[in-house]
Order: sequence, then C-alpha cells, then structure tokens
Amino acid sequence: MRTQDPKTIYLSEYQQPAFWVEHVNLTVSLFDGYTEVSSELTLKKNPDVASRELVLNGIDQDIQSLQLDDKQLSSADYHYADGVLTLNCDSEQLIFRAVTRIDPQNNTSLEGLYQSGSMYCTQCEAEGFRKITFYPDRPDVMATFTTRIEADAGQFPILLSNGNPVDSGALEGGRHYAVWEDPFPKPSYLFALVAGDLSSKDDRFTTRSGRDVTLRIFVEPQNAHKVDFALDSLKKAMQWDEEVYGREYDLDLFMIVASDFFNMGAMENKGLNIFNSAAVLASPDTSNDQRFERIEGIVAHEYFHNWSGNRVTCRDWFQLSLKEGFTVFRDTEFSSDTHDRAVKRIETVAGLRAVQFPEDNGPMAHPVRPDSYIEINNFYTATVYEKGAEVVRMIHTLVGPDDFRRGSDLYFERFDGQAVTTDDFVACMEQVSGLDLTQFKRWYTQAGTPRLSVTDDYDADSQTYRLFFHQSCPATPGQTDKRPFVIPVKLGLLGADGNDLPIHTRGNYNAGTEVLTLTDEVTEVVFTGVSERPVPSLLRDFSAPVKWSFGYSDEQLAFLAANDANGFNRWDALQQLYSRAILSMAEDHRAGRSLTPPSVLVETVANVAGDASLSHAIRASMLTLPGYAILKDAVDVVYIDDLIAARKHLVKTLATRYRDIWRSLTEKLSSDAPYEFNAEESGRRQLQGLSLWYWLKAGDQAAFDFAAELYASATNQTDRSNALRAVLAGDAEALQQSLLSDFYERWQSDTQMVEQWLTMQAGTPGMTVPGIETLMQHPAFDIKNPNKVRSVIVGFAMNTESFHDARGEGYALLAKVVQQLNALNPQLAARLVTLLSDWKRYDADRGKMMASALETILATDSLSSNVFEMAQRALKD
Ligand code: PHE
Ligand code: ZN
Repeated sequence: MRTQDPKTIYLSEYQQPAFWVEHVNLTVSLFDGYTEVSSELTLKKNPDVASRELVLNGIDQDIQSLQLDDKQLSSADYHYADGVLTLNCDSEQLIFRAVTRIDPQNNTSLEGLYQSGSMYCTQCEAEGFRKITFYPDRPDVMATFTTRIEADAGQFPILLSNGNPVDSGALEGGRHYAVWEDPFPKPSYLFALVAGDLSSKDDRFTTRSGRDVTLRIFVEPQNAHKVDFALDSLKKAMQWDEEVYGREYDLDLFMIVASDFFNMGAMENKGLNIFNSAAVLASPDTSNDQRFERIEGIVAHEYFHNWSGNRVTCRDWFQLSLKEGFTVFRDTEFSSDTHDRAVKRIETVAGLRAVQFPEDNGPMAHPVRPDSYIEINNFYTATVYEKGAEVVRMIHTLVGPDDFRRGSDLYFERFDGQAVTTDDFVACMEQVSGLDLTQFKRWYTQAGTPRLSVTDDYDADSQTYRLFFHQSCPATPGQTDKRPFVIPVKLGLLGADGNDLPIHTRGNYNAGTEVLTLTDEVTEVVFTGVSERPVPSLLRDFSAPVKWSFGYSDEQLAFLAANDANGFNRWDALQQLYSRAILSMAEDHRAGRSLTPPSVLVETVANVAGDASLSHAIRASMLTLPGYAILKDAVDVVYIDDLIAARKHLVKTLATRYRDIWRSLTEKLSSDAPYEFNAEESGRRQLQGLSLWYWLKAGDQAAFDFAAELYASATNQTDRSNALRAVLAGDAEALQQSLLSDFYERWQSDTQMVEQWLTMQAGTPGMTVPGIETLMQHPAFDIKNPNKVRSVIVGFAMNTESFHDARGEGYALLAKVVQQLNALNPQLAARLVTLLSDWKRYDADRGKMMASALETILATDSLSSNVFEMAQRALKD
C-alpha cells in the first residue's frame, strides 16, 4: 500500500488483459498465526491482445511456491515488484498455481481476509482479492470459483463462500472443511469467505418461476434477535425486483453475514452479502425509525446488485457508477414504492445538497465517470453514488417509464455475464427510445453542479408568458470549460388561486410528463393562452441535480409552500425561504445589525405546523431548517460564527413564538400503540420528535419534564432517541449527564447502542476537543473499529459549532487521528481527510488552520497512497 511515488491510472489507457481466467480453485486454510492460500487458475489467452505477459496482482503475499503448468517457478522466472507479478507465457491454455501465506489476524485495513471480532471475513471490492492470493484483480476478468475452506471445527463451525455448498467433512486434528461452488462467472471483487461461530436464521422465498430460495442470515449469537427486519426487507426487495424489473434471483441460497468491523455499509458478494452490523441488525428497542429505513434500503441495494453489478458488472473501476448509480436509483425507487414517494424524494435531495453538491463545489469534484485515480477506494463518493443515481433518474424522465424498462431489459439480456461500461448502458436506452443521448452523456464526463438561472416575462395583452433559462457550470479541477448539459425541467405555472394553469407551448414540452428539455446555454420558452401572470413552479421533484434560481419574492415562496400541487416543491420553496432568511441574518450579524426573520416566513411555519392536510412526515420535513452543509454551500465565504448565530436565532424565534404549538403537537402525537415501522407511524414519531425539540428550545421546564418522561418510559429506540436528541440540544446539563450515563449503563453490552451513544455525545453542542479525547479513552472506543471512529470523529466534525472552534483545535485533532489511522486503515483515514477539504471556503483564519492540518497529514511518514491522494487533492490550487 505504501509507495513513494503513487501511480495515476487513466481511463484512456484501458487495455484488455492478455489472459482470461476461466476457473479458480481456491483452498484457504486458517491457522492460528497465519493462513495458507493455495490457488489454481485455469487461464486462457485473450486472442484480441498481442502481449503474452501474464499480469497478476498480489500484496503482502509470503510466497511458498509458484507453478506454471508442471513447472515449478524460481524467482528468475518472474518479476515481482510493487504488488505486481509478471511472467511470460507461450501457451494458449495454462494453469497457474500459487501457495502463499497471509496474516489476516494482523490485517487492520479490513481489505482482503481479516479478523472481525471472533470471526474471519473478507472484503474484496475494489482491490482486496490481491491481498488473498495472486490474481488478475480487475473486474473485467470473470471466472467461476470453487472454494475450499479449512479451519478448526470448534472455533469456526461455520465456513462460507459464494454459491452453493457442495461438500464438507472432518479433518485430522479437530479441523474440518467445506467446499463451495459458484457457477456464475464473477470478478474477484465479488469473492467472499466467512469463518466463525455464528448463529443463523432462515426464511424462504419462491421466485415467480417457482425456484425455492433459502434466505439465511448469520450473526454472532448475541445478535440473533436482530435479524427479522432484514429478512423481511430482503423478501420485499426480491418481490419488487421481480415486479418492477422482471429480475429473479438465480441461486438456491442467499446469505447475509453481519460483521462488526467493516469500512462501508455492506457488500454485494455473489450469494454471500457481508454487512456492517450497523447496516443490518435491527430491533425496535435498539434501532430508531431512521435506522430501520436505512437498513431496509441497504438490504435492498445489495440484493439489487445481484443483477446491476454482479450478473452485469463493470469493465474497469472508472465505470463504478454503472453499478452504483443504477443500484442507488433502484433502491431509492424501491423505498419510494414501499413508503412515501414525496418524503423519500425530499430526503434524497436534502442528502444530495448536503453532501454531493459541496463535493462538486470544491477540490474533490470529479465526474460521475472519473478520468483518473490513484486509489480507487477514494472514489466511492456521493458523486459516483448519488449524483450517478440522479443521472439514471434523468434518463428515466427523458425516455419515460416504459422505455426505461425496455432499456433495462435489453441491458440485462445483452450484457449478462459481461463486464461493461456506462456507454453500454446508455446505448440500450438510446436503442429502445430512439433518443440520441450523446449530449446527455456530458453528465457522466463533466464534473460540477450546473447553475440554472431563470427569469420570466408576462405580456397581458397577448396572454403570453415567457421563461428564459440560462445554464452554466463552474470550473472544476482539470475542467475549465463546460459545455451545456441536457436538463429536464419539470414545471407547472400557478395561477393566483394556487391551481396549475393549463400549459400550451410550442417548445420542446411533453404535456404528458410536464417536462421541458433544455439543451442550450440559453433557452426561451413561450407559453401561450396564459390568462394571468403565473408563479412558476420549477424543477418539480427536483427533475435535475442543478442549482437553480428564480427571483421569487418571499411572498411568492410562501405562496408556493402553501399551494404548489407538487409536494416536493412545497418543501423546496420553504427551504429556499429558510436559507434566504438565515443567510441574510448572517450578514446582519456580521455587520452588527439586529436579527429579524421575515414575518412571512414566521407565519408560514405556523401554517405548516397546523396544516392537517399534510402528512406528519411532510410537515416534519417542512419544519426542518436547512443544515450547515447546505447553508455553507450557498455563500462565497463561510463566516461560520455568523451563520451559527443566524440559524440559532431563527430556531429560537420559532421555538419561543410557537411554544404552544410545539407543546400541543408534542402531546397530541403521543401514542401507546406497540411499535410498528411504517410511513405513517414513523412520520408521527418524527413530527413529535421535532416538536419536542422546538418546545425544549423554548426553554420550558414542562418540555424538559416531558422529555425525561419520554426517555424513561420509551418502549422503542425512536422515542428514546427523540427524547435524548432534544435534551442534548438544550442546556440542562444535569439532565443530559444523567440520561447519558443511564443510557450507557443500560445498553453497554449492545454494540449498536454504544455506537449511538458515542455519536450523540460527539454531536452535543457543548462538546470540546478535550471532551472528544476523553471519549477516545473510553473502553467503548476502539480506533481499529471504523464504526466507533465514525461515531466519534465524523460525529464531531458534523458538530459545526464545536468542530470549528476558533482556535483550530478540532482540525488539529482530526489531523492526529488521520495520522494514526494512516498506518492501520488507510481507506478510513483517507475518508476522514475529506472533512477538511472545504478549507478554502472559510474565512482566512480558519482556512489557514485547516490547510495546515492538511499539511501535517501530507507530511506523515510512510503516507499511504490513499491519504496522499486525498490530502494532495484537497490542497491543490
Ligand atoms: N459495493 C458496496 C455497495 O455499494 C460498497 C463497498 C465498496 C463496500 C467498497 C465495501 C468496499 O454496496
Ligand atoms: Zn452499491
């Protein structure tokens, strides 16, 4: 991993391998102290490539023996340096054998084979298989696998790999073995192996063609009561993929394993998904609604990968969004169909704006299909995932649902068993729809969030209304000139009564879908027969991932928030109103003026809070103010103290002005019904939690009493965490301490609860750097465990008021943690670097301190290529 001079990989240099792998025979023998891996690769010359060089990746391999056909290889026969072994092979068909030893017990990178608590497991995406054995570790090499695992029978009764179990039995010395066969050719990144003392729970699913599939979840025994929800989610996802995409599962067995040590959310290994425990284990008593929702989405996501990712995979890692963007789109649609579409869209867009837009607006900006990378692990980003999903969503909008389904059918049929590109995906959509998507593909190649500014003009005499669209896109690293994007604009025109006016236009407007497609830098659209000056409702459902603006008055935004036929746009109009108010108060604060939120906003909030025609969930999201990530992204220079003061002032105003509303909502929304996770109930709890939070901000003693009682009597984690969140945001120090210690006392043996306990503390407004250092000394903390690190460190970095402490101590702490993790877990360390990457957006003092933290990181001894790439990109001019 460590390298003096990390090499950059370019998409333009893609070449097929000289040899394909047809079959892999793997034997993995676990011993205390080392693991021995014997592999046998059946190789075949690729006739399309002239080179005869066999290139195998291998990292941290202690070579016992290498053999080509019958010939034992000595070091003179091959070249092995920087993790690449090369040899020349004359034959068309050959067998390569390797016996190597590896050290999973000391593998803290959590890539390849590693120990996770009492079990062994693997993580091979993107390039982890090379830490297990020598292999052409690239996704375009697809092979069938037979895997034999040997281990101590007492310690590791369960031995798992991909595909079907074909053999097992006892061995000498208390050991045993199991053999698994995966009949589907797959790239090495989808390989998985698990050994442990695990308990399991089964369920069944019958596919629509009548295949009987066993669903089996493996967990450490203490978690056996937390698997039912994931099993249910899995069945729903399987059903949905059959109904919506016509995709069936293809093996007789589908397994999920929960692991406490995991760098990401979960992994879609063929037939053997491995999950971060936090992304799969659920119970009402330990998981709040948000967690249930997230688990359902991730279970579905990994399952959907079986087609979008596994059966049809990526040719190279530049194509990552081929599987991730598409699969995120699929899981988002699944959640929308299962729960509430408008609520889901709001959550998705809020997330996109808080994470992907800032990424696209700084030194880390990169295209959905990047052109180059040093370390591919650094490209599992919001851009590849979430913007990638938006790109697929726009294709869906442009071609329409029927052609989209035809296009996806064609894609899965044409490319089944192949490793392909985003161009191949788009070509299928073009073929079925007859649309030319050449220009549209700029969404894959140009980074940066497009700006769309809109103005209008109304002529009462001719009853003509005009909209003028002007699009542009700021420069991003390595890309100065951008060409126009294809932007689908879904819109409506509201009359004074709040209803949509009929639309007649000669422009490129499809009345059925209400979508206008912009292709030029400047577009004028003429609407005829418009009987009054309308208020335009633009980018309905956020039809394109752009930053758009229209010169609305506050009153017009309030009007849209109250009347727009599009639920998403009601929310969005109010968000614009909040942002505008906070940003202008921040300027007032900076100039030493007094702060007064606009009365039209304050009144709108009361209307929304009391609007019984809106669902609880929609009301809750409309009453939630934009967070700092979104606010910061809207200004040229972030003066964080002013922003904090302004946002707090708005919260305080709304809290105190409407304390009676918050109180009555809080009380009215109580329920004794047993916990159920569904859109209705979670909406109720969400609105109650938010109301309680506001009520508490008003400082009423009754609110603190209510929260303490809700905490004490809660029969589910949603109510409990709502109570805690409200109390932690208030300033009743004694109550905070007593609830936090009660929480730990009661739940210290539950890993997921301890993680939440750490996160809550890291996010408490009064948190300090010494406080975080103390937390890191707590026995519950473990620097080798990514979930714990994320809870404390990312939790703290998200705590805007504390992390951006004016002396820069927060930045220095982060640099120290990155340095420590650089040696242990480079992937995680690199991820933490992004928390400093927006340094240039802050005032000069803070910017300097953040940059110097980055310099400290860059000066670390034995810097991993992962951290090097991120720190260096962050600092680049
Ligand atoms: N492919 C995984 C997913 O999207 C994410 C992942 C990437 C997990 C790399 C582990 C390592 O579900
Ligand atoms: Zn994925």
